[in-house]
Amino acid sequence: MSDLSVANNASKAGFDVAAVRRDFPILSQQVNGKPLVYLDNGASAQKPVAVLDAMDRYYREMHSNVHRGAHSLGDRATTAFEGARETVRRFLNAESTRQIIWTRGTTEAINLVANGLAPRLREGDEILVSHMEHHANIVPWQMVAERTGARVVPVQVHPNGELDLDSFNSLLGERTRVLAITHVSNVLGTVNPIAPLIEQAKARGVITVVDGAQAVPHFRPDMQALDCDFYTFSSHKLFGPTGIGVLYGREQLLEEIPPYQGGGEMIERVSFERTTWNTLPYKFEAGTPAIAEAVGLGAAIDYVEGLDRQAMEAAEAALLTRANDLVGTVPGMSVIGTAQNKVPVLSFKIEGLHPSDIGTLLDQQGIAIRTGHHCAMPLMDFYGVPGTARASFAFYNTLEEVDQLFTGLQKIQRLFA
Ligand code: ALA
Repeated sequence: MSDLSVANNASKAGFDVAAVRRDFPILSQQVNGKPLVYLDNGASAQKPVAVLDAMDRYYREMHSNVHRGAHSLGDRATTAFEGARETVRRFLNAESTRQIIWTRGTTEAINLVANGLAPRLREGDEILVSHMEHHANIVPWQMVAERTGARVVPVQVHPNGELDLDSFNSLLGERTRVLAITHVSNVLGTVNPIAPLIEQAKARGVITVVDGAQAVPHFRPDMQALDCDFYTFSSHKLFGPTGIGVLYGREQLLEEIPPYQGGGEMIERVSFERTTWNTLPYKFEAGTPAIAEAVGLGAAIDYVEGLDRQAMEAAEAALLTRANDLVGTVPGMSVIGTAQNKVPVLSFKIEGLHPSDIGTLLDQQGIAIRTGHHCAMPLMDFYGVPGTARASFAFYNTLEEVDQLFTGLQKIQRLFA
């Protein structure tokens, strides 16, 4: 635990959702005259007091720039900042903090990798993605493909939202240079079987990049077990602050690929004749970093790791089961994404209702969900819908809130469908 963490109401043994909820002050408010039911965790999760306090304390007691000051505040800030990096390393079970690069989020991390790999790509090379990717794991590759003559090739998805492994096997071939795949789909909740996919890709010398943004709020990925080349996630979906994320990378590859941005901190020596790069991880961290945000992310990880993980995962699974059990109570409602292995995310449509109307009408009842294409337009095209309504749950949601969602949907369906 970093010295910035504070006591939590939630205890390590068992899972008391009422106690957990007291750690998240934002949840106990009224919205539109109704108690808030926050079911938009896939877009951004709420923050426990531990995170708010850690950032507040950082600014009140230790703010200064990092790695620069010849003074005590600079030392304190650097210690807190590098302590957070060590917390991330432990969370991911990475071998070294040299492999933990701070970015602005998953999107920037994938852009960093895509640009870093660009010099290795040639005309006709293939970048394998899946049809269920978020735009953040499609567009950076398309931009690099345009520059290099490579092609972005999507692995197909089954109608139930599972990855089509036959499609994967037939597309992974001589021309594949990169496999860029999401661990968990933000729309479907599908948990992809990435370990065997990484193993197969690596056996062919393919570089593997995993978008873990929707995975880390629900379970802990192990870098040494997965053995992927790159793994990315955002802090704000993991109960930490916005504006910071993580790129984990294989050390040798991080050494080999060029820096993403130039500036202070990322250099060893600058002259007009020749500039050389700093060591890892600083080579990829140009400019003053998001120091308070790193501290906040460290506190968020400490908070989540302080929970009884098994009990938390069981509580999340119970939320999804309850939601699935209630689908039949709303006439015309159907779920998009019914994979065997999924996190608690429920994308759905209701006949006769536009997803954005569902969102607006639920909001009037204090219930927050996301509607639209969820930055996954190719997946919307696959399902032939302009968008879906999506309830995405976190461990602090309750079974009563699931019931409230369905009571709200029944009401809307009766009045408007
Ligand atoms: N990618 C985030 C979501 O799925 C914003 O909502």
